[in-house]
Amino acid sequence: MVSTRGTHNILVASNRGPVSYTLDETGTLTAKRGGGGLVSGLSAIGPDAGALWVCSALGDGDREAVRRGVGEDGVRMLDIDADTHAAAYNDIANSVLWFVNHLLYQTPLEPVFDKEFRRQWAAYETYNHAFAEALAEEAAEGAAVLVQDYHLVLVPRMLRELRPDLRIGHFSHTPWAPPDYFRLLPDDIAAKVLGGILGADRAAFLTQRWADAFTDCCHAVLGPGIPSGTRIGVHGLGADADFLRERSHRPDVDERLAVLREQIGTAPDGSARKAIVRVDRTELSKNIVRGLLAFRELLEERPEWRERAVHVAFAYPSRQDLAVYRDYTAEVQRVADEINSQYGTPGWTPVLLNLKDDFARSLASYRLADVALVNPIRDGMNLVAKEVPVVSDDGCVLVLSREAGAYEELGEDAIVVNPYDVSGTARALHEALTMPVGERAERTKRLAVAATALPPAQWFLDQLQALDS
Ligand code: F6P
Repeated sequence: MVSTRGTHNILVASNRGPVSYTLDETGTLTAKRGGGGLVSGLSAIGPDAGALWVCSALGDGDREAVRRGVGEDGVRMLDIDADTHAAAYNDIANSVLWFVNHLLYQTPLEPVFDKEFRRQWAAYETYNHAFAEALAEEAAEGAAVLVQDYHLVLVPRMLRELRPDLRIGHFSHTPWAPPDYFRLLPDDIAAKVLGGILGADRAAFLTQRWADAFTDCCHAVLGPGIPSGTRIGVHGLGADADFLRERSHRPDVDERLAVLREQIGTAPDGSARKAIVRVDRTELSKNIVRGLLAFRELLEERPEWRERAVHVAFAYPSRQDLAVYRDYTAEVQRVADEINSQYGTPGWTPVLLNLKDDFARSLASYRLADVALVNPIRDGMNLVAKEVPVVSDDGCVLVLSREAGAYEELGEDAIVVNPYDVSGTARALHEALTMPVGERAERTKRLAVAATALPPAQWFLDQLQALDS
């Protein structure tokens, strides 16, 4: 138990914070602000609400900022030992918990839970403990603490022990695995993951499906009933329509739109080529390679699309410290090159692959997309599926995996695919490309309404309110 009290009434804890710093050769620190649901949510409660965001220092720039005492009001960065952070973030959070909840293991070779895994798990506990201690120190009596995601599943239980007076919520931004898969984890670790979250007053998820899977895992691993009486909730984060509509019509987006149109080009008959767009992190769960294979099958089976369609694939770098992500990025590049050399002509590049992050260019691609391909193996929500219909200039058909959380809200007006079924996805692409203009416009309108039902600010406020009730 911690006897002293901090001053903050609302606290958010996450691995990645709202700001990051880069350090250049001259020793100058530059701050870069991030976006996303939590940033909008916190801005909605206003600067006087006494909120604090506790996050990790993630690179040399962040660490130097902490050392120099540079920072922003309302943000506390924790400079956790770099090896401990690497083991917690890379080896446990991203290689074990992420893999379990996205069903990514390639058995029979993976996973292997050995002595090395136990060492990494100990680092994950240390890392979670650093968050729990910082939150315990900063929180005012009875404050609300919203702990985010799979990086910090142990924090609610640890924090509850340090500060029983707090109201604690945990939010999972990922899917949750079904019990048979979740029980790949060693029994004691599975119990700690669930028990850690059950230290919260409320455990919340993006969809009912993930919430039910969590409850099923609790029953399978810990026995019937939710032992601590933790309430389970669902808050389906939506797209931020006001922000997206304004941001997607700024000059930098218009410039990129013109460049993209030029690159996509026109078909031999002079008509504009159709654009099948995808925008993702280069992430195994996003299923980018099968998307490329489906596009190749479309060109094979439906030769009428040769010279008339382009697959615009933006796959931004992610988690490059992990070999499996580097290998996947190379595979995406290899398959795209193969398609281009097999089918490309002097005037037509079938796959426009770009691996460099550029938000303005992503928005430009949303505006011109004829088809948006969102085919993850599994995804907590997938905001691209929600953003495209909002930003689209002329309507866009959504080809959507039934395994994305967004399917629950958008499934009726999308063309739905099984993400493993490459031929089925190729057929869905053909259906999307040939959908009559009127139907496409109607569906886009309905998709945009469903996609914006719970904007980020409201999503955040709903969680706070639910913790109060
Ligand atoms: O889906 C979970 C999540 O934490 C997202 O909120 C985020 O977009 C993504 O993973 C990014 O992960 P990382 O912080 O490893 O880049």
